[in-house]
Amino acid sequence: MDRDLSLNLARVTEAAALSGAKYLGKGDKNAADGAAVDAMRRMFDTVHINGTVVIGEGEIDEAPMLYIGEEIGTRGETDDAVDIAVDPIDGTTAIANGMNNAIAVVAVAPKGCLLHAPDVYMKKIACGPKAKGKIRLEDSVEDNIRRVAEAIGKSPEEMTISVLDRDRHEDLIRDIRATGARIKKITDGDIVTAIYTCFEESGIDMIMGIGGAPEGVIAAAALKCLGGDFQGKLMHYDEAQKKRCQELHSDLEKIYTIEDLVIGDDVIFAATGVSEGDLLKGVRFKKDNKATTQSMVLRLPSKTIRFIDSIHDLRHKPEYAK
Ligand code: FBP
Repeated sequence: MDRDLSLNLARVTEAAALSGAKYLGKGDKNAADGAAVDAMRRMFDTVHINGTVVIGEGEIDEAPMLYIGEEIGTRGETDDAVDIAVDPIDGTTAIANGMNNAIAVVAVAPKGCLLHAPDVYMKKIACGPKAKGKIRLEDSVEDNIRRVAEAIGKSPEEMTISVLDRDRHEDLIRDIRATGARIKKITDGDIVTAIYTCFEESGIDMIMGIGGAPEGVIAAAALKCLGGDFQGKLMHYDEAQKKRCQELHSDLEKIYTIEDLVIGDDVIFAATGVSEGDLLKGVRFKKDNKATTQSMVLRLPSKTIRFIDSIHDLRHKPEYAK
């Protein structure tokens, strides 16, 4: 894929973040998401790709924009044919409640290279580069923590595992505690915490537990660029979800490795902070109609990790003005 796509994808996530951030703490997650979707979709119209949304806002009858199967980009004859995974706001509840760690995110890979994950749950495990190859979803929590701890030169007691704060994780939390490892519970947003495992200064060594499957594929794209590791298994809780998985030919028994989720050696990932986070600053609205954003762009072929700080003059971008 054209490497200059990286900057355009940062524009796409910046647009979503600027629009979604206006709803911080306003108690309306649908309005925040709607604004971010709208802005992301409009920016994609200017990007030179022949794109198909494979992970998006839902099915065509559920989502007016960025629905699965929607064809986006300028779609010129010479434009790259690509799969697109979007999450205009990962952490819509966090935004509605004025909380941290919400991001706007996209991943783009050549056509056929991203798993078309249905909107079901996924059991996940992820770690950073030093422990690549040491995680196995089918193994016990204890074995995984012990192997990762050894690989990164820590004792289990020195490890910190990020887990979504959900009732379904009662057993997992008990098992992690039994190893002596520490737990950082999060209310929302397991894409960004998966990314944290690749940045030592974040203090997060692994993520474990059940979150959204679409978010799993997007996290895998980021971790592949960062040299980390990820495994996931689709989970269905009712017949409708099972049927949806079958329609998309998803294997409910399979443990998907990072290579299964993101095939090949080309993917670009971009994220912009919407609310404040440990890795990315959130959108800050300043005086004189200015706003700042911070984004991260990753490109697998070069393995470049690029942080982009932008100052936006909203007088020239009336669609984002307060
Ligand atoms: P949304 O912003 O789409 O609501 O997703 C936030 C999120 O926390 C994801 O990061 C996570 O994978 C998923 O929700 C967990 O699902 P649930 O809130 O149903 O437990």
